[in-house]
Amino acid sequence: MNAVLSPGDVENVTHPRGVERIVAGTPTSDGAGVKLTRVLTQPLQRRLDPFLMLDAFGSDNPGDYIGGFPDHPHRGFETVTYMIAGRMRHRDSAGNEGLLSNGGVQWMTAGRGVIHSELPEQEEGRMEGFQLWLNLPAKEKMCAPWYRDIQNETIPEITVDGVTARIIAGRSHGVDGAMAPGQREGTQPLYLDLHFDAPGASFAQALAAGHNAFVYVYRGALAIGATEVASQRMAILANDAGSDGVVLRAVGDAPARALLIAGKPLAEPIAQYGPFVMNTNDEIFKAVEDFRAGKFGG
Ligand code: CO
Repeated sequence: MNAVLSPGDVENVTHPRGVERIVAGTPTSDGAGVKLTRVLTQPLQRRLDPFLMLDAFGSDNPGDYIGGFPDHPHRGFETVTYMIAGRMRHRDSAGNEGLLSNGGVQWMTAGRGVIHSELPEQEEGRMEGFQLWLNLPAKEKMCAPWYRDIQNETIPEITVDGVTARIIAGRSHGVDGAMAPGQREGTQPLYLDLHFDAPGASFAQALAAGHNAFVYVYRGALAIGATEVASQRMAILANDAGSDGVVLRAVGDAPARALLIAGKPLAEPIAQYGPFVMNTNDEIFKAVEDFRAGKFGG
């Protein structure tokens, strides 16, 4: 869905943020042996509040993904799954079912609890994508589960100076994303998938000064100020006082692609035990107890 830009819809960035730190991520496996890279790991949850996790997966080898993610629970946060290539079938205990495929997004609010599965619907070919965990404010952690499939064709796109931005959440250049600003008041997520198709192309995005932000480069390389960010690296953007956004520039001749993700920190305690993310240990014990007692879902 390509949006038409008005002349006034520019992102004014005069004091861009720099890079605080480059992170390589940790190769691991999850579900039934799915190989992935955990880019945003638990030690970074406080620094990148309200984001709890980012996993990147990508393989042409069915052995790396064929087991998928059989039935497992979640409580207390949202999962945002973005498929670049491949097909995954989702089913959950609230009776929702959907097919996640090339370029589509699944936004799931676990709230007080869901049990779901995510299983590949292909036996060969490429499977590539990302799963982001977005925290819920304390007062919404026990909300009713919610779920939305966002088809590829319905994600708003803009093209500015050789860069195409797919606006999954938030707003860019005056265009609202599939998850519009205001739909998540507590965390105000911005989620852009940026495609730099021209050598040297650059893209500016305004960011609220207090919001935490990071960039994950998944093709080619980008420069942020004087720092070069290689493929499969995350750049944590500095929360420089007086900064008003970020400017990303493609480096070299190869096309570059990156996720730009930002959000408003919740500044609340984080207690995590596997797929349960609450505010206190007591709430975690309760989550485990409720799950064992079969109180999740439905
Ligand atoms: Co899950």
